Formats: sequence, structure tokens, C-alpha cells
Amino acid sequence: MAEPITLVQHIKNTGREHPEAAAELSQLAGLLGDVAAVGKTISREVNKAGLVELLGLTGEVNVQGEEVKKLDDYANDTIIKALERSGHVCVMASEEVPDPIPVAAGYEGPYAISFDPLDGSSNIDVNVSIGTIFSIRRKTTAGPAGTAEDLLQPGRTQTCAGYIIYGSSTILIYTAGFGVHGFTLDQSIGEFLLSHPDIKIPAKGKIYSANEGNYNYWSEGAKKYIDYVKQVDKATGRPYSARYIGSLVADFHRNLIYGGIFLYPMDYKDPAKPKGKLRLLYEASPMAFIVEQAGGDASTGAEKILDIVPTGLHQRVPLIVGSKEDVELAEKFVQGKV
Ligand code: AHG
Ligand code: MN
Ligand code: MN
Repeated sequence: MAEPITLVQHIKNTGREHPEAAAELSQLAGLLGDVAAVGKTISREVNKAGLVELLGLTGEVNVQGEEVKKLDDYANDTIIKALERSGHVCVMASEEVPDPIPVAAGYEGPYAISFDPLDGSSNIDVNVSIGTIFSIRRKTTAGPAGTAEDLLQPGRTQTCAGYIIYGSSTILIYTAGFGVHGFTLDQSIGEFLLSHPDIKIPAKGKIYSANEGNYNYWSEGAKKYIDYVKQVDKATGRPYSARYIGSLVADFHRNLIYGGIFLYPMDYKDPAKPKGKLRLLYEASPMAFIVEQAGGDASTGAEKILDIVPTGLHQRVPLIVGSKEDVELAEKFVQGKV
């Protein structure tokens, strides 16, 4: 049997195969190694959360106006502490923090990182899969300190993106622009080992994932698309199966492996202020980079997620992501072309 490949070995090997990117990948290896180490720590806490009273609400409200749970705080603090003196990043953005997070003076590195420390937090108390999402861009501004400008670059400028899913096992998925690769945490040796090399999402799936409780707040096009996937038509593989966990990482991960489409469409509850729910910087953009690298697609319905120029750290967008043919058809429905 071949020797198992660790995450850092994998990135370095990719650098050997792509000499033009070797310097970048070698710098990234350091940062990804830190992210993986933090993932192991969070994974440990997630697993024992029920035992140590980390479960439950802190009673505080985050910048999004949502209740913050203790594990969100823990994950947020752990990531910031691990990276602020790592020498790999110059500025950070977190779902749990309103403004850009500076790093310690003298420790500025070449990357700006955005993260969702704990995604799917409504599932923490019920032992359902949750995750951590990250998005890495190269600093573009002058001087050592990073700024909001370094974080607010379109998704296409991402150097690397990934997520860690704390499920029946802990898996880290990443792309650095050379395909999508998955590593499973071997708890006995504390290493992420390559388990899902070069993941490709099927061009068309049989699963749709959406919070259909919001159906009446959607556009006519989004409603028609969901009606469409439920119709019976053997030739196009309909009806699709409904699968919705309520953790983006878990819903995305399942669809990445099996094929399918995830939709969190524009919400017209207040017709004067239509809004998306998922955050561009640390939810939609990293998933869009990963899915495109796996052969899939990601859109708001009106434009590709990776083309959006961010205007705010916590900007929300509608998200349609998954198998390419499914996303393209959903876009047509949303645009009123079908
Ligand atoms: P977070 O827990 O980081 O705030 O993210 C929650 C997100 C995402 O994980 C999921 O796809 C979506 O919210 C679920 O929203 P609904 O509960 O409205 O379906
Ligand atoms: Mn989230
Ligand atoms: Mn979160």
C-alpha cells in the first residue's frame, strides 16, 4: 500500500508538478498547515461539546443580529489566536467580528483570510454536521499591514479556499486552483490524510437542497424552478430528491460528492428590500471557487458569484451552487428565460 499523503505534502507535491506556482504553493502550505491545526482543535471541541458545557447560547448577538453560540466564539477566538502571530496573514475577516481584524505588528504575512469560524451553528445542539469555511487572497495593497481593500477583492482573485466539515468524520477540502482535494482526519495520528483526490462534481445531479419554508418569499422564477425539479419526468431524472441539512458546508459537501443543486435564493419578504442570506466573502465565494474547480457552477441567479466585486465584509448574496447543468438551468428560471 502507498504511504498516506498529508495535506502539506500534497500542496508541496502540487508545487513540484506546477513549477510556475511552486513559490505560491510553498507559502500557502504554511498557512494551510495552520488552518488544518486549528481545524483539529475545533474538531476536538465539537466532539466533546456536550460534555464540557460548551453547548448553549452565550446570550450575545453577533454583527449579523443572530444569537452567538459558545462554540462559534470558541472557533472564532481559536482561529484568530492561531493566525495573528503566524506570519502568514496580514488581515482577517470573520463572520463574528464587524471590522477587519489586524494581526500583531511585526507578524504581517502575504495573505488576507476571510472565514466563517463555525457554519451551521443552529445544528450544534443537535449533533448535526457543522463546519469551518475559509477564503484566502493575496495582499494587493502596499505596506505590511492588511486593509479591508485586501479582503474586498472579487472571488476570482482567491488563491485558495476550503472548508472543514465536522461530521461522522472530520474532512478538510481545499483548492488552490489545481483541482479540489479532500483529506480525512485520522484521529489516531492527528493528521489530515488524502482520501478524496481530484474531486469532480457530476455535471447533473438528482438532489435539490433549499429551505422550502421560504418558498412564498422567493421570485416567481425561483418558485418555478423548485416546482420543476419536483415534476415527474423520467427522461430528465425528475423528480429530484430533497435534502436539506441547514449547514451550508454539509449541504454543499454532499452535493459536491453526489451531484445536485443548493439554492438560497433572493428573499422578497420585504419587496422593497430583497435580500440574500449567505455571506459573500466567507460562504458564497469559497464554495464558488471550490465548485468551479470541481467542474460545477455558482451564481446569484443574475451573475456568477466569483465575478461580484465585494462592497462589505458581511455582504449577503443569493446563492445557487452545484452541478453545472443544474445551476445553468436554475439561472434561466430565475432570469425568467424558461
Ligand atoms: P452560520 O451558522 O454560519 O450563521 O450559517 C448559517 C447558514 C448556512 O450554514 C445555511 O446554509 C443557512 O444559514 C441555513 O439557513 P436557514 O436556517 O434559513 O435555512
Ligand atoms: Mn455560515
Ligand atoms: Mn458561522
